[in-house]
Amino acid sequence: MNTMTISASKRACILSMIVVALSSIPGCGQADRGTGTGNDKAEASVKSSATQTSRDEEKKGNTDWRILGNGSDAQHYSPLDQINMDTVSRLGLAWVADIPSLDGLSGNPLVADGIVFQSGPMGRVFANDVRTGAALWVFDPKIRYTREMSLATFWSLKFNRGLALLDDKVIVASGDCHLYALDQRTGKQVWDSQSCDPHEQYGITAAPRVGGGMVFTGNNCIDSGATRGFVDAFDGATGQRKWRFYTVPGDPAKGFESELYRKAAETWGTDWYDKTHGCGSVWDAITYDDELHLVYLGVGVPAPWSPAMRAKDAGDELFSGSIVAVNATTGEYVWHFKVAPNDGWDMHPSMHIMVADLPINGEKRRVVMQAPKNGFFYVLDARTGEFIQAKDYLPQDLILALDPKTGRPTYNPKAQYWKRPGESVAVSPGPLGVHNWMAMAFNPKAGLVYFPAQIIPTLYTPDPEAQVGGMLFDMYYGLRDESDVKVAGYLIAWDPVAQKVAWRAEQTMPWNGGAMATGGNLVFQGAADGTFNAYAANSGKRVWSFDTKESIVAAPSTVLIDGVQYVLVPIGNGGSFAVGSYLATHASTMATRGPSRLLAFRLDGAAPLPGFEPIAIPKPSLPPQPEDLAARGRVIYEQSFCADCHGLDGASASGTIKDLRFLSAESHEAFAAIVIGGIRYDKGMPASPQLSLDQAKAIEAWLTNQAWAGYNKQEGILPSPQQVK
Ligand code: HEC
Repeated sequence: MNTMTISASKRACILSMIVVALSSIPGCGQADRGTGTGNDKAEASVKSSATQTSRDEEKKGNTDWRILGNGSDAQHYSPLDQINMDTVSRLGLAWVADIPSLDGLSGNPLVADGIVFQSGPMGRVFANDVRTGAALWVFDPKIRYTREMSLATFWSLKFNRGLALLDDKVIVASGDCHLYALDQRTGKQVWDSQSCDPHEQYGITAAPRVGGGMVFTGNNCIDSGATRGFVDAFDGATGQRKWRFYTVPGDPAKGFESELYRKAAETWGTDWYDKTHGCGSVWDAITYDDELHLVYLGVGVPAPWSPAMRAKDAGDELFSGSIVAVNATTGEYVWHFKVAPNDGWDMHPSMHIMVADLPINGEKRRVVMQAPKNGFFYVLDARTGEFIQAKDYLPQDLILALDPKTGRPTYNPKAQYWKRPGESVAVSPGPLGVHNWMAMAFNPKAGLVYFPAQIIPTLYTPDPEAQVGGMLFDMYYGLRDESDVKVAGYLIAWDPVAQKVAWRAEQTMPWNGGAMATGGNLVFQGAADGTFNAYAANSGKRVWSFDTKESIVAAPSTVLIDGVQYVLVPIGNGGSFAVGSYLATHASTMATRGPSRLLAFRLDGAAPLPGFEPIAIPKPSLPPQPEDLAARGRVIYEQSFCADCHGLDGASASGTIKDLRFLSAESHEAFAAIVIGGIRYDKGMPASPQLSLDQAKAIEAWLTNQAWAGYNKQEGILPSPQQVK
């Protein structure tokens, strides 16, 4: 069966229309189960200690931040307290390291033995000295775009959410489905393994996670519904695949690997496989619990998003839209909790999964905690997946209530746009969520979880031609005059036991960075407006702020080196849609784009922050275009996935993805060849062969008018000056 079957269902399947090489859906053969030996908990090489260090460094009292979230419970907490409420006013820049990555940095920096490791798009890793910021080595797998790569791969190559350290290795994933293991000291490649197939709708933006001597990776299908989601586990020492857990059943015509998938398939309704293959993408959320030896997965929703385009009699569509626990050694299913039944809005729970021991009704329970997109904060039993409690922390109008026993939502009928063809419906939250993938932090002493949250109402319009989801969605709606609900961003301090907002700090805009809590009674967080801030953990009072002049999405880290506490944070927005084009044009400052940099702070640090010059939008080379043509162009542009890289109005967030308001006369000349013919594929711009010349002309007209609007407002952007050669 090839992907044409999916597009036959009228949905514009990305794979069949855009990717030149049509390839078959991945084999639905037996999941590759590992032998299950030698990876017992006793042999786990990554511990949950916040300060796992090598012996030499340990002697000096130096600490590491070896794992995303600084421990296998992913709490983004450090007990360090040199920087505290009393001293934080002395915090200043220790050094700035320019990182040779054109696209921005999103991953939590990791530190081992005095080296800070940062990942970037295209599978790159940058190692710098924590004391000085001096560059030690750069790893570049020198990935080349090919015409045969899927759109998911093109997209994923522009974005990387972080890396993992395992023993003496650094592990990084690349957008084109590879995992590389490098020597921490030299950056030399130790092994290279492939997980998904870049010629199918697969790409990896996730940070790999480690535990029990293994490396785990998920992948995404850019919500195409074209492929079957899965998570792979590799042996950390050799890179050999140990097991694969599919998040959804495969082709029913081929039979199922196990009873688990036969049962799961029953929940997808009649003839479901003609309409979607899932995906159930594990975009990012993987947490290895070293106490229970479970791996928790946050699985994405089914696509197309509009339920009208999936089976009418679908049930829970397992295990999409769920949190799933599997055995870390074997990959076998242990439990699942369905967060998003009958989803139509991309309210997926592939978000940070945190583990903690909490007193619930007077009893200590090991729980998993998550704030998925839907605006509720969930607490589940880590052993069984049993629903303990969930509550919303910001206003939303999608869910009327959760069943207190089961946690199942009752949706607001008004939000169900697919039942209202021809109408547009405003819903809050939209696909960017009340909380997205950015890291949460937990201060065990305060008993509070800190995370960025936002209000981004979205206008949904059913549209079977749209490449993602069967609808158009205007995520800028909350910026428009006609919207009653306006965009907003907050840092929330949530009491997960009492289910109460302890405090919330208002921020200038949504889409802010991940959080870190420290023993100094502080919460650190970078913001979309370019400020890096410290808040009092108990009150939410902002006690320190530094203007980095660039958006921050990554979570910071902190370590103690030679008696000095450093706080590390990467700046520079990531490269594809999800990382901030949303804000790029609407930020009141130019904060969203700039060079990729790693910043280190320490008490009494006084290093200067080099500036950079904005470039103004030039006078467009074409005259303003007829409004009706431009309006048509805007719709085609939205339908055709352009916005996911270039932003909804053509103003990209950063780096390799060009801002389409800067089109030169030559680029106008070559417009159809670039967009339809794909002559710039080697630079990361995919072909859209499904577009007609007329459609391309309409898009060009709309972009030209966008350029005039930007030019008239004298908008400028900040270029990224560095590039890996
Ligand atoms: C996967 C991400 C991605 C998608 C999707 C995408 N682009 Fe691009 N686009 C790029 C990148 C990267 C470049 C820069 C290529 C280069 O350096 O020349 C680019 C360049 C361009 C250019 C040339 C810009 C110039 O200044 O020369 C145009 C025009 C363009 N894209 C239009 C579109 C349109 C229209 C769509 C939707 C049909 C689209 N793009 C979809 C990534 C993307």
